[in-house]
Amino acid sequence: MTPRPLRLSWSDRPVDFSASGPGVVRAERPRRFATQDGRGEFYEGDNLASLDELVRARPGSVSLAYMDPPFDTGRVFETQGRLAESGVSVAYDDRWSDRAAWLEALAERLVRVRELLAPHGSVVVHVDPRTSHYVKVLMDELFGEENFASEIVWRYRRWPAKTRNFQRVHDVMLRYRKDARVEGRWNPLYEDLAPSTKATWGTRKQRAVVDAGGKRLRSTTLEEESKGVPMGDVWDIGVVAPVAKERTGYPSQKPEALLSRIVTSLSNEGDWVLDPYAGSGTTAAVAWKLGRRFVTMDLGEASRAVVHERLAGIGATLFEGESYEKSQQTRKIAAA
Ligand SMILES: C[S@@+](CC[C@H](N)C(=O)[O-])C[C@H]1O[C@@H](n2cnc3c(N)ncnc32)[C@H](O)[C@@H]1O
Repeated sequence: MTPRPLRLSWSDRPVDFSASGPGVVRAERPRRFATQDGRGEFYEGDNLASLDELVRARPGSVSLAYMDPPFDTGRVFETQGRLAESGVSVAYDDRWSDRAAWLEALAERLVRVRELLAPHGSVVVHVDPRTSHYVKVLMDELFGEENFASEIVWRYRRWPAKTRNFQRVHDVMLRYRKDARVEGRWNPLYEDLAPSTKATWGTRKQRAVVDAGGKRLRSTTLEEESKGVPMGDVWDIGVVAPVAKERTGYPSQKPEALLSRIVTSLSNEGDWVLDPYAGSGTTAAVAWKLGRRFVTMDLGEASRAVVHERLAGIGATLFEGESYEKSQQTRKIAAA
C-alpha cells in the first residue's frame, strides 16, 4: 500500500505557500547593502521580499541556511543596555493573531529558502518546545521526511524560574537537507571523551580487535591522541552572558559558539550562508570570521543599527548598493 501523506491542517490553510497568502502585505523592495568584496550582504526590509529577490537572482546558491524566527511568544521584545540608551527601545514584535498565522509566515519563507538551497545544502530552523512539533510536521511536508537530518537540542543554563514544573532549559533546532541523495556538506566535530572513558582508557585512540567473523573481541590503545567522540545532537552551550564581549543588547541574541558549530560543520569556506532573521547578526559575524560568504536580512531598526556596527567591527563594513542582478550586469559589462 502506498503510504498516505500526512500533513498539518488548519482552516483556510493555503495549499501552496509560495504564493502570498491572505493578510500578507507585499512589502516594498528591500534595501541592499554589501561588503566591498561582495562576500557579505544585508537586506533591510521584510525577508519575504528579500528572499523573493534572491530566488530570482541566484536559486540553488546557498549551502547553509539558519533561521531563528520570533518564537510566537505573544511578546514585544525590547532592547537592552547601550542599545536601549541610544533611543531604539523596541527590537521586534512577536504578537500574532494565532499560531496558524505564525506557521503560515514561517512556511512562506521556508519554501523560498528551499529554492535557494544548493543540492548539497541544508537548513536549520531554531524554535522552542512549544512549537517545534508543528514546525517538524510542516518541514516534513515541505522538504520531505527523507530529508530530515537532525533534531538538535540546545541545552543552556539560566536563572531558575519559579515553577511547579521541570525548568525549561532547551531550544530545538531542526535540520533538513535539500536532497539526501546528494552528498551534503559535512565537517565532523568532536566532543570531549566522557570522564569515565578517560579514567579507564586515557585520551589515546582506541581500536577494536575483531575476529575473522567481524566480532569485537577487545580494544587496543594506539599511540595517536583521540579527537574525542563524534559530536552528538544535544549541545550544552551557555547563553550570551550579561558581561560577555559579544553581547550587543539585542534580545534573543544567540551565542557565537552555537553558530560556530553549525557553520563549521555544515558549510565550507567560500560557501554562501543565509540567515533571513538576522537580529543582532550573529550568523553573519560567525560566517565572516570562518571565511564563508553571508547573506542576511532583517526589518527592524534596532537590528539594522546592530548589524552594521557589529559587522564593521570585524572588517565587514556594509555599503548600500544596487541589487545583486544589477551588480552582476555591471560586472559583466565591465569585464567585456
Ligand atoms: C529571534 S530574533 C533573531 C536573533 C538572531 N539569531 C541573533 O542571534 O541575534 C528574530 C529576528 O527576526 C526579525 N524578523 C521577524 N520577522 C521578520 C521579517 N518578516 N523580515 C525580516 N526580519 C524579520 C526580527 O526583527 C528579529 O530581529
